[in-house]
Amino acid sequence: MRRKHLVVVVVTIFLCWNIMMYYVLVSKNPGKSISFEEKLTWLEADIQHELKENTGLLEQLQRQAKQKSRAAVEMDARQNMEAAIKRPNQHRTEAPVNLPARTNKEPGVDANSVVLPILMIACNRVTVSRSLDQLLKYRTSPERFPIIVSQDCGHQATAEVIQKYVASDNVIHIQQPDLSDIELPWPKKKFSGYYKIARHYKWALNQIFHHFNHSAVIIVEDDLDVSPDFFEYFAATYPILTSDPSLWCVSAWNDNGKNGMVSDEPELLYRSDFFPGLGWMMERKLWLEIGPKWPVTFWDDWMRHQDQRKDRVCIRPEICRTSTFGKKGVSLGLFYEKHLKHIKLNDKFVAFTQKDLSYLKKENYDPWFKSMVYDTPEVTVAEVMSGSKKHLKALRVTYTTKEQYKSIAKRLGIMDDFKAGVPRVAYRGVNSFIYSGQRIYLAPKSDWNQYDLTWT
Ligand code: UD1
Ligand code: MN
Repeated sequence: MRRKHLVVVVVTIFLCWNIMMYYVLVSKNPGKSISFEEKLTWLEADIQHELKENTGLLEQLQRQAKQKSRAAVEMDARQNMEAAIKRPNQHRTEAPVNLPARTNKEPGVDANSVVLPILMIACNRVTVSRSLDQLLKYRTSPERFPIIVSQDCGHQATAEVIQKYVASDNVIHIQQPDLSDIELPWPKKKFSGYYKIARHYKWALNQIFHHFNHSAVIIVEDDLDVSPDFFEYFAATYPILTSDPSLWCVSAWNDNGKNGMVSDEPELLYRSDFFPGLGWMMERKLWLEIGPKWPVTFWDDWMRHQDQRKDRVCIRPEICRTSTFGKKGVSLGLFYEKHLKHIKLNDKFVAFTQKDLSYLKKENYDPWFKSMVYDTPEVTVAEVMSGSKKHLKALRVTYTTKEQYKSIAKRLGIMDDFKAGVPRVAYRGVNSFIYSGQRIYLAPKSDWNQYDLTWT
């Protein structure tokens, strides 16, 4: 009804304007002889200009109307949510309901004690208990690391499993209220799962930051195993994350972290230009920046895009602090069989909080990393594979084109894809991994200074 009214108003304005313009043109310059054709051209240009402006206006009005109705839906969701949270048994914790936002700058809250909630994204896997059991087993402090399970999909059996943890372990259970199907044209239908995941993430992260008012979050999914030092890792890297503006996340994941492709150095950490996800931490200020423009689908690839990443990097470990047992998921199981199931999960406890991690800050890391990579002897991929340089501690292989990178990556068994110009796992174009017991740096020339965004 409202839209119809809108259209009528706009069309009327449009017609009036054209009639006015016609009279202005016809009565203008009566002395001068403007040809009929000229008048017609003028009129046509004017009409076209007006049409463009009016279409713009109409679109703007429609967008505003849509935003208004979306805001109303969100408001409803929020009210439902608050009601749910006030219900007993759904929310047993003393945790931070409607507390003012805690930021590091506040007196009394420093980076070494800030609350780091774990947001567990769940849907319809009753095996969420496997992940929760591990988190509870390794968690050192329930106050410092409250666990919030956000459930999508309205799956009753899974909800019942989660409720048991609410009763016994003070886990918080929240439920994404919008379970509607997402309408998509036929060719995109097969991606509807990814749309739902993005919708869920947006809602859940809004809860974390706008309802629970946390200053950071560690996000996990319901098919992740975690390492014994999972909490220790995030606790220790949080102060680095907050103090280095070139960092925007800490991730538990190494995409090339397969058995045999990592060294036995669980304390080893890197900077990564590639956003790894799969158990990752971000600060509140990042959500305030990206939350409002959160995409409708493929949220992780969207984050990897330069429009979001803006050259910021993540910390990632040599040996993964998460691994996935989600064989059947929204994406096909093939990738799981070929790749994910071979990922090595760290099983040793590294006392990261006792270590000085300031080497990960850009100003310390970059000069050190560059000399480490480029002081390493350069060899060919054939030399790596033949083992003829086995006496050297580390080897460097150079690539200059996308095709070269892909071909070398394939031969040495690392992932060969790019997102927004960045090779998976790379930092400054360099990929560091183990091949047949030897450290390899697959690296661009030493004068590298930026990614080529067309490499995808
Ligand atoms: C893959 C990624 C995952 C990413 C997702 C979206 C890997 C191993 N996993 O998902 O990190 O978030 O793509 O790009 O690369 N879920 C919902 N609602 C749904 C369906 C699923 O909230 O309707 C939740 C699941 O509970 C799970 C997460 O979304 O926590 C990912 O779903 P999953 O089925 O595991 O898909 P992947 O293929 O692993
Ligand atoms: Mn999964």
